[in-house]
Amino acid sequence: MAVQSLQFLSLAGLTLQLLAQGVDAQQVYILANSAAARPQCSSIPATPTYRFSSFSFTQTETYRYATSVPAPTTTKKYAPAYSSLSALLPSLETTTWGNWHPNDPAATDSANPYGRAAWSSLWQFANPTGFRTGIYSTTVAPTPLPSSELVLPPKDYFGPKDCYNFPSDFIFGVAGSASQIEGAAAMEGKGPNLLDIFSPFGKRSDNYVTNENYYLYKQDIERLASMGVKYYSFSVSWTRILPFALPGTPVNKAGIDHYNDLINFVISKGMIPTVTMIHFDTPLQFFAGNLTARYKRAGLGFFNGGYQNATFEDAMVNYGKILLTHYADRVPVWFTFNEPFLFSDNGHSVNSVIKAHGRLAHFYKDTIKGTGKIGLKLHDNFGIPLNPANSSDVAAANHFNTLHLNTFWNPLVLGIDYPDSFKKTAHDYVPLTKSDLEYLKNTCDFVAVDPYTITVVSAPPQGIDDCAKKSDPNSPYYPYCVTQQEYNKFGWNIGYRSQSYVYITPEYLRTYLNYLWNTFRKPVLISEFGFPVFGEALKEPRDQVFDTPRSLYYQSFLSETLKAIWEDGVHMMGALAWSFADNWEFGDYDQRFGLQTVDRDTQKRSFKKSFFDLVSFVRDRHPNYESS
Ligand SMILES: *[C@@H]1O[C@H](CO)[C@@H](O)[C@H](O)[C@H]1NC(C)=O
Ligand SMILES: *[C@@H]1O[C@H](CO)[C@@H](O)[C@H](O)[C@H]1NC(C)=O
Ligand SMILES: *[C@@H]1O[C@H](CO)[C@@H](O)[C@H](O)[C@H]1NC(C)=O
Repeated sequence: MAVQSLQFLSLAGLTLQLLAQGVDAQQVYILANSAAARPQCSSIPATPTYRFSSFSFTQTETYRYATSVPAPTTTKKYAPAYSSLSALLPSLETTTWGNWHPNDPAATDSANPYGRAAWSSLWQFANPTGFRTGIYSTTVAPTPLPSSELVLPPKDYFGPKDCYNFPSDFIFGVAGSASQIEGAAAMEGKGPNLLDIFSPFGKRSDNYVTNENYYLYKQDIERLASMGVKYYSFSVSWTRILPFALPGTPVNKAGIDHYNDLINFVISKGMIPTVTMIHFDTPLQFFAGNLTARYKRAGLGFFNGGYQNATFEDAMVNYGKILLTHYADRVPVWFTFNEPFLFSDNGHSVNSVIKAHGRLAHFYKDTIKGTGKIGLKLHDNFGIPLNPANSSDVAAANHFNTLHLNTFWNPLVLGIDYPDSFKKTAHDYVPLTKSDLEYLKNTCDFVAVDPYTITVVSAPPQGIDDCAKKSDPNSPYYPYCVTQQEYNKFGWNIGYRSQSYVYITPEYLRTYLNYLWNTFRKPVLISEFGFPVFGEALKEPRDQVFDTPRSLYYQSFLSETLKAIWEDGVHMMGALAWSFADNWEFGDYDQRFGLQTVDRDTQKRSFKKSFFDLVSFVRDRHPNYESS
């Protein structure tokens, strides 16, 4: 078939109704053999008129600068302060342990179960390979940015032409996570966690230094504030708060103080913090005495995050309550877990996650009467059927998406049982009782996803049911039990490709947002989205920061978000860009998702063009940006 022109249409609103009935999918291809319509071009004369004019360099250059958000005049409170909540927790012993280094002399307080010797032995047991420390050992005072760093770059010729604004309560910000940026891995009392000794992606596991944000956080925040970023989304390191992880063990005063100070500094700059409690960095205590288990390909998701350990749920609740009592007065948005499916070993892991989430949400709403929002964020690069007219492809896409999303939000939002896709896949799933479901229902105020890109899905060769029944972690199809590809049925890539799995797929984002809103009926938050430009690490610094593909990614995704809001009626809560700087991408420094570059030797940060383009895109369209 000769296809001269293929127009690709996304009929989000229409297809969602069909999806809800489970009969059809999200896209239609319309074959078009004539020129594409340009309705804006009707008044152009048939022939040009040639004429002379005098020449001069009249194009004056105008510069625009990024502007910071103003410092706050009042500070909103979202819960009582720690001083009035501390009685809700068993009395916490706080202490400090200092820094660890493999060459340290042995500590002498071995009679103390939580002393220096016990703490050091956590690190000896973890035995981090190639351990090293960075260039800083104390918090660096921030310095204001020179205006020369804040000049906007030249615009791209093509850009969004939409006329929509963001609603007044739409939140916009940038995100990062503790283990990917903090460094200072064994400093100031932090205990070892999974990501200190394990790289999911198998390359160098050097997570001891990363961006040294533990010492540079004030300067990092100063830079974000200067760019005019409103929300700063970070994760707390569990083992920095509780080096021994478990309930009843002492709290690290240096850790509590660090995040208090970080939150206060964010607020003092006119920004607003959001907190994730655990971002893959499980304390090592949950892996018994056998750290080999950490390398195991998990039975369900991809990595063994230790959530299935019978002590995990209570420990997570204890840790989460410590965070909520200390920080909820100043933090309006909470995520208990980041992308939990990926680090779930089995059905018990998922059970621990949803039960711990439910208990923390009830503690937040009912006990401390928090007035902010709480939820958890899920990964799902939305599965779209290879052929939307083929019912087996549609069934595969529905299997894929419900396994990712409904496994958590059926109980935690809708108060209904796990989806069949999960029950088929995780044979050891823990059944939910009626009272479990009543308790868990509505414990997420929003549905947050990290919709980096999409994936094209069809049934696996042996069929979904057979794959799910065999549950073979060595099968390339398990756990999702679908075939995934990154090109459409005509062989075209789904979009412009990055350094990794991310393709620029904005039209499908709108479909996805419709799916989420209509399925779960809670405001939708894009909790991470970002684009690692192909080969960026190989470029000259000046070329690294002129990152047009990343600008295209962000602006197109946000344009489609606006269409979802205004044309489809989707309630969007906001969008958080990943990431505010290049960072340790789980074993890899070459997949660069950052809005800033980071010099690995000097720790110097530089803004990329996309950062200016992204913030301008939002601020130019957000009349209430500063009070959002
Ligand atoms: C589970 O975690 C507890 C508490 O840290 C630990 O003592 C135990 O050995 C772990 N069990 C397994 C099977 O990993
Ligand atoms: C440790 O865990 C690995 C992976 O699960 C297992 O193969 C090994 O036998 C375990 N070793 C011990 C001493 O339990
Ligand atoms: C649907 O697609 C599958 C492969 O994914 C194929 O085996 C099957 O024949 C197709 N069905 C129809 C009705 O085209």
